[in-house]
Amino acid sequence: MVKILFVCLGNICRSPAGEGVMNKLTANYHLDSRIGCDSAGTSGYHNGQQADHRMREVATQRNIEILSRSRQITHHDLETFDYIIAMDDDNYHEIQALDHDDQYNHKILRLRDFCTDHEVTGVPDPYYGGKAGFEKVLDILQDGCLGLLDKIREEKGF
Ligand code: 4NP
Repeated sequence: MVKILFVCLGNICRSPAGEGVMNKLTANYHLDSRIGCDSAGTSGYHNGQQADHRMREVATQRNIEILSRSRQITHHDLETFDYIIAMDDDNYHEIQALDHDDQYNHKILRLRDFCTDHEVTGVPDPYYGGKAGFEKVLDILQDGCLGLLDKIREEKGF
Protein backbone atom coordinates (compact mmCIF):
# COMPACT_ATOMS: atom_id res chain seq x y z
CA MET A 1 0.00 0.00 0.00
CA VAL A 2 1.35 3.43 -0.98
CA LYS A 3 0.73 5.88 1.86
CA ILE A 4 0.22 9.62 1.44
CA LEU A 5 0.13 12.10 4.33
CA PHE A 6 -1.28 15.58 3.69
CA VAL A 7 -0.03 18.21 6.12
CA CYS A 8 -1.16 21.75 7.00
CA LEU A 9 -1.06 23.86 10.17
CA GLY A 10 -4.26 22.98 12.03
CA ASN A 11 -5.32 19.76 10.25
CA ILE A 12 -8.89 21.03 10.17
CA CYS A 13 -9.09 22.75 6.76
CA ARG A 14 -6.59 22.12 3.97
CA SER A 15 -5.01 18.75 4.77
CA PRO A 16 -8.26 16.91 5.69
CA ALA A 17 -9.64 18.27 2.40
CA GLY A 18 -6.54 16.98 0.58
CA GLU A 19 -7.16 13.57 2.08
CA GLY A 20 -10.82 13.71 0.99
CA VAL A 21 -10.00 14.85 -2.56
CA MET A 22 -7.35 12.15 -3.01
CA ASN A 23 -9.59 9.44 -1.54
CA LYS A 24 -12.25 10.32 -4.09
CA LEU A 25 -9.71 10.27 -6.94
CA THR A 26 -8.20 6.92 -5.95
CA ALA A 27 -11.71 5.43 -5.69
CA ASN A 28 -12.57 6.76 -9.17
CA TYR A 29 -9.40 5.21 -10.59
CA HIS A 30 -9.99 1.95 -8.66
CA LEU A 31 -6.72 2.49 -6.85
CA ASP A 32 -8.14 2.75 -3.34
CA SER A 33 -6.77 -0.68 -2.42
CA ARG A 34 -3.28 0.46 -3.46
CA ILE A 35 -3.14 4.04 -2.21
CA GLY A 36 -4.10 5.10 1.32
CA CYS A 37 -4.36 8.68 2.62
CA ASP A 38 -4.16 10.37 6.00
CA SER A 39 -3.58 13.94 7.18
CA ALA A 40 -1.95 15.75 10.09
CA GLY A 41 -1.15 19.24 11.35
CA THR A 42 2.20 20.76 12.20
CA SER A 43 0.42 22.11 15.30
CA GLY A 44 -1.69 20.23 17.81
CA TYR A 45 -4.03 23.21 18.40
CA HIS A 46 -7.07 21.32 17.17
CA ASN A 47 -6.22 17.79 18.29
CA GLY A 48 -9.23 15.46 18.18
CA GLN A 49 -11.46 17.93 16.36
CA GLN A 50 -13.46 17.22 13.22
CA ALA A 51 -12.58 19.25 10.14
CA ASP A 52 -13.92 22.82 10.07
CA HIS A 53 -17.65 22.79 9.26
CA ARG A 54 -17.13 25.28 6.39
CA MET A 55 -14.61 22.93 4.77
CA ARG A 56 -16.92 19.96 5.22
CA GLU A 57 -19.83 21.90 3.75
CA VAL A 58 -18.10 22.93 0.51
CA ALA A 59 -16.60 19.44 0.19
CA THR A 60 -20.00 17.76 0.61
CA GLN A 61 -21.33 19.91 -2.24
CA ARG A 62 -18.70 18.26 -4.45
CA ASN A 63 -19.35 14.76 -3.09
CA ILE A 64 -16.08 14.76 -1.20
CA GLU A 65 -16.21 13.12 2.19
CA ILE A 66 -14.08 14.47 5.05
CA LEU A 67 -14.12 12.20 8.09
CA SER A 68 -10.76 12.79 9.74
CA ARG A 69 -10.01 14.03 13.24
CA SER A 70 -7.15 16.46 13.77
CA ARG A 71 -3.81 15.18 15.00
CA GLN A 72 -0.28 16.51 15.08
CA ILE A 73 2.39 15.07 12.79
CA THR A 74 5.09 13.02 14.53
CA HIS A 75 8.60 11.95 13.60
CA HIS A 76 7.22 8.42 13.19
CA ASP A 77 5.02 9.65 10.32
CA LEU A 78 8.16 10.46 8.34
CA GLU A 79 9.05 6.78 8.44
CA THR A 80 5.53 5.44 7.88
CA PHE A 81 4.40 7.50 4.88
CA ASP A 82 5.77 7.35 1.34
CA TYR A 83 4.66 10.84 0.24
CA ILE A 84 4.35 13.68 2.74
CA ILE A 85 2.59 16.60 1.10
CA ALA A 86 2.89 20.10 2.55
CA MET A 87 0.16 22.61 1.81
CA ASP A 88 2.43 25.66 2.03
CA ASP A 89 6.06 26.65 2.58
CA ASP A 90 5.64 27.07 6.35
CA ASN A 91 4.29 23.53 6.62
CA TYR A 92 7.13 22.31 4.40
CA HIS A 93 9.80 23.83 6.64
CA GLU A 94 8.11 22.56 9.82
CA ILE A 95 8.07 19.02 8.43
CA GLN A 96 11.71 19.33 7.38
CA ALA A 97 12.57 20.46 10.93
CA LEU A 98 11.18 17.13 12.23
CA ASP A 99 13.56 15.28 9.92
CA HIS A 100 16.57 15.82 12.18
CA ASP A 101 18.96 13.54 10.31
CA ASP A 102 17.76 14.54 6.85
CA GLN A 103 16.75 10.94 6.19
CA TYR A 104 13.34 11.56 4.71
CA ASN A 105 13.85 14.71 2.69
CA HIS A 106 13.02 12.88 -0.56
CA LYS A 107 9.50 12.15 0.73
CA ILE A 108 8.66 15.72 1.75
CA LEU A 109 6.97 17.51 -1.14
CA ARG A 110 4.79 20.57 -1.78
CA LEU A 111 1.32 20.20 -3.22
CA ARG A 112 1.81 23.27 -5.42
CA ASP A 113 4.54 21.49 -7.36
CA PHE A 114 1.96 19.06 -8.77
CA CYS A 115 -0.50 21.72 -9.95
CA THR A 116 -0.79 22.21 -13.68
CA ASP A 117 -3.73 24.67 -13.80
CA HIS A 118 -2.89 26.85 -10.79
CA GLU A 119 0.20 28.99 -10.38
CA VAL A 120 0.25 29.35 -6.63
CA THR A 121 2.94 29.63 -3.99
CA GLY A 122 0.93 27.24 -1.80
CA VAL A 123 -2.58 26.24 -0.79
CA PRO A 124 -3.81 29.45 0.92
CA ASP A 125 -5.03 29.12 4.50
CA PRO A 126 -8.82 29.68 4.34
CA TYR A 127 -9.41 29.77 8.10
CA TYR A 128 -9.94 33.51 8.59
CA GLY A 129 -11.70 34.17 5.28
CA GLY A 130 -15.03 33.47 3.60
CA LYS A 131 -16.54 30.59 1.67
CA ALA A 132 -14.70 31.48 -1.56
CA GLY A 133 -11.41 30.64 0.14
CA PHE A 134 -12.62 27.15 0.94
CA GLU A 135 -13.78 26.63 -2.64
CA LYS A 136 -10.38 27.82 -3.87
CA VAL A 137 -8.66 25.28 -1.59
CA LEU A 138 -10.68 22.48 -3.21
CA ASP A 139 -9.89 23.75 -6.74
CA ILE A 140 -6.16 23.80 -6.01
CA LEU A 141 -6.28 20.42 -4.26
CA GLN A 142 -8.13 18.83 -7.16
CA ASP A 143 -5.45 20.06 -9.56
CA GLY A 144 -2.49 19.11 -7.34
CA CYS A 145 -3.87 15.72 -6.34
CA LEU A 146 -4.38 14.77 -9.98
CA GLY A 147 -0.75 15.68 -10.68
CA LEU A 148 0.42 13.78 -7.62
CA LEU A 149 -1.60 10.74 -8.61
CA ASP A 150 0.02 10.81 -12.07
CA LYS A 151 3.47 10.88 -10.46
CA ILE A 152 2.65 7.98 -8.12
CA ARG A 153 1.19 5.89 -10.93
CA GLU A 154 4.29 6.51 -13.01
CA GLU A 155 6.68 5.74 -10.13
CA LYS A 156 4.80 2.64 -8.97
CA GLY A 157 3.76 1.35 -12.38
CA PHE A 158 0.00 1.27 -11.90
P1 4NP B 1 -5.48 24.53 8.27
O1 4NP B 1 -6.17 25.92 8.69
O2 4NP B 1 -4.01 24.67 8.58
O3 4NP B 1 -5.75 24.46 6.79
O4 4NP B 1 -6.17 23.45 9.07
C1 4NP B 1 -6.02 26.50 9.95
C2 4NP B 1 -6.81 26.09 10.99
C3 4NP B 1 -6.68 26.68 12.23
C4 4NP B 1 -5.75 27.68 12.43
C5 4NP B 1 -4.93 28.08 11.39
C6 4NP B 1 -5.07 27.48 10.15
N1 4NP B 1 -5.63 28.30 13.70
O5 4NP B 1 -4.82 29.22 13.82
O6 4NP B 1 -6.32 27.92 14.64
